[in-house]
Amino acid sequence: MTIPRRRPRYPGKNPRRFEHKYKEHAGDPETIAKVLASGKTPAGTHVPIMVDEILDVLGPQPGDLAVDCTLGHGGHARHLLARILPGGHLLGLDADPVELPRTGESLRAAGFGPDVCTLCRSNFAGLPAALAARGIDSADIILADLGVSSMQLDTPARGFSTKLPGPLDMRMNPERGVSAAQWLARVSSGKLSAVLSENADEPHAELLGAALAGGHFAQTTDLAGEVRRAIPRLASGEMEQTIRRVFQAVRIEVNEEFAALDALLRTLPLCLRAGGRVAILTFHSGEDRRVKKAFQNANREGVYREIARDVIRASPKERRDNPRSTSAKLRWARRA
Ligand SMILES: C[S@@+](CC[C@H](N)C(=O)[O-])C[C@H]1O[C@@H](n2cnc3c(N)ncnc32)[C@H](O)[C@@H]1O
Repeated sequence: MTIPRRRPRYPGKNPRRFEHKYKEHAGDPETIAKVLASGKTPAGTHVPIMVDEILDVLGPQPGDLAVDCTLGHGGHARHLLARILPGGHLLGLDADPVELPRTGESLRAAGFGPDVCTLCRSNFAGLPAALAARGIDSADIILADLGVSSMQLDTPARGFSTKLPGPLDMRMNPERGVSAAQWLARVSSGKLSAVLSENADEPHAELLGAALAGGHFAQTTDLAGEVRRAIPRLASGEMEQTIRRVFQAVRIEVNEEFAALDALLRTLPLCLRAGGRVAILTFHSGEDRRVKKAFQNANREGVYREIARDVIRASPKERRDNPRSTSAKLRWARRA
C-alpha cells in the first residue's frame, strides 16, 4: 500500500505558498485524478495537447529519427518514443535548464535510456547545430509545441504566474538575457504598446503601454495589480484575460520567441530528410500566422511536397478536459 505524503503545514489560516496551496503537488494520485476529472491540469504536471492528431500527421514508424524541439515535460516525447521503438531515436531539445534535467530523470526512470533518447539544452533556433553536433544530417519527424509548459507556468519562482507572487522573471532560460522586470523598467510606452498589440492582440495596448512602461515591478502580482489599476472598470473575467495577455506579450518579448520561431521555420527544410514531416502546435495568432506563411511559401517553392490545408484544432472533448488546448492550432508540412 502507498501512503500519500502529507500536505506541508503552513502558518496562518490560508495557504500562501505554491507548495502549500496545491495539494496535488505532493503527488497524491487520488488528488491528481480528481484535478484531472475537474478539467484542470494538476500543478507541477503537463498534459500533452492533441496527441492523437500529432501522431496522425507525423506518422512515426519504428526506426525513425525524431526531434522534439520543445521537450517540456516529455509528454509528446513519450508517445513518439513508443512509436519509433524499436530501432528509433529521439532527440529532445529544450531551452529551460531548470526543467530539462527533471524531464531527463523521468524519461530515464520510464526506461528511455541514452541509447534511445538524447537530451539537449538548446534553443530550437539552433536546431541545425544541435543535429550537426551529434552527427545527424536530417530527421524523419520534427515536432514543436510552442510556448511555456504547465510546470513553468505553475512555478511562481519562474515568474510566469499571473496569480501567485514570484519574482517577475519569465525567462525560459534564466541564465540568458534580461528578466521581465528589467525589460519593463527600461521599455518606452510606444514600444510596449506595439508589443502588447503584436504579441497578444491586446485591445487596450495604448493605455496599458503608457501605464506600465518604465514601471518597477519586483513581483508578478505587482504587474497584475498595476494592470487592474490602469483599467479599473473591466469586468472580472475580462480583467483576468487582459492580465493574461499582458503576461503573454511580455514573455514573448523577453524570450525573443518570434525570432526563435522564424529561425526554426527558415532552417526546418534543411533538417528534414526527403519525405520527412514536421508538426507545429501554436497558441496565438502571432505564432500561427508565421507558421502558416512559412509553410505556404516553402510549399509554393517546392521545398515542401504537401502542407496542412487547414489548421487542426483540439476535439470538443479535449477542450473540455484540458482547457489549455482551446487555443491550440496544429499545422504540418511534408518535405519534398
Ligand atoms: C508547451 S511546452 C512543451 C510541452 C511538451 N510538448 C510536453 O508534452 O511535455 C513548451 C516547452 O518548450 C520550451 N521552449 C519554448 N521556446 C523554446 C525555444 N525557442 N527553444 C527551445 N525550447 C523552447 C519551453 O521551455 C517549454 O519547456
